[in-house]
Amino acid sequence: MPADTPYVVAHLGVSLDGKTDGFPRDETRFHQLVGTTWHEDVTLAGSDTVLAREPAMAPGPGPRDPGPLLAVVDGRARVTRWQELRDAGHWSEVLALHCRATPPRPVGRYVPELVVGDDRVDLAAALRALGRRPGVAVVRVVSGGRLVGRLLARGLVDEVSLLVHPVMGVGSRDWWGEAPPPARSLQLIESDTFGRGLVWLRYRVA
Ligand SMILES: NC(=O)c1ccc[n+]([C@@H]2O[C@H](COP(=O)([O-])OP(=O)(O)OC[C@H]3O[C@@H](n4cnc5c(N)ncnc54)[C@H](OP(=O)(O)O)[C@@H]3O)[C@@H](O)[C@H]2O)c1
Repeated sequence: MPADTPYVVAHLGVSLDGKTDGFPRDETRFHQLVGTTWHEDVTLAGSDTVLAREPAMAPGPGPRDPGPLLAVVDGRARVTRWQELRDAGHWSEVLALHCRATPPRPVGRYVPELVVGDDRVDLAAALRALGRRPGVAVVRVVSGGRLVGRLLARGLVDEVSLLVHPVMGVGSRDWWGEAPPPARSLQLIESDTFGRGLVWLRYRVA
């Protein structure tokens, strides 16, 4: 892992065969682990994860202060409901991660932006820039796998945390994204079992 980037953890709810969709995730346990384990400074989200949530977004209580920053990898400027994200009550502020090829944004859109990369958002540069912000030590990735896969491919993930659900043969998205993950040794940090057949695995990526 580059020394000048924050600690990056990818935490996903998966089936036994590694899928991130097609089954009801235990949201309560998933978020309880988030709340007690990493105390992230930045939530780094894939745009498709955010877009999947946009239709159900309702007005929230407002920014959480103090709270993590929500940074969305949105190289195609597809995310629209920035105000609702900011007000959802989970984050203190939002940040759009764009690249130089990102289409023009609507006039008057108020979202802080970080432009890194030419054709795609440069994930390493984005993490370096996030790590330079005061108080940013831990970044948690929120993705159905594709953003995780891009980060893994570039050696930018320090920890993989999987909450394994007792189901298989469902879903279509692998937690490692669209290509097989690069060969890596993993070191077990912690494991636990919970009711209803859930198993939690935390691995450090060597
Ligand atoms: N089971 C779980 O734990 C879990 C967690 C979260 C979400 N989900 C589900 O997963 C689904 C969405 O996940 P997803 O895996 O399809 O998408 P995603 O990871 O949310 O979004 C794909 C991201 O990868 C970025 N990307 C792809 N190629 C890239 C490259 N070469 N360089 C830089 N960035 C790149 C995209 O950026 P651009 O926008 O710039 O293309 C986008 O931000 C939703 O249905 C959601 O409900 C499940």
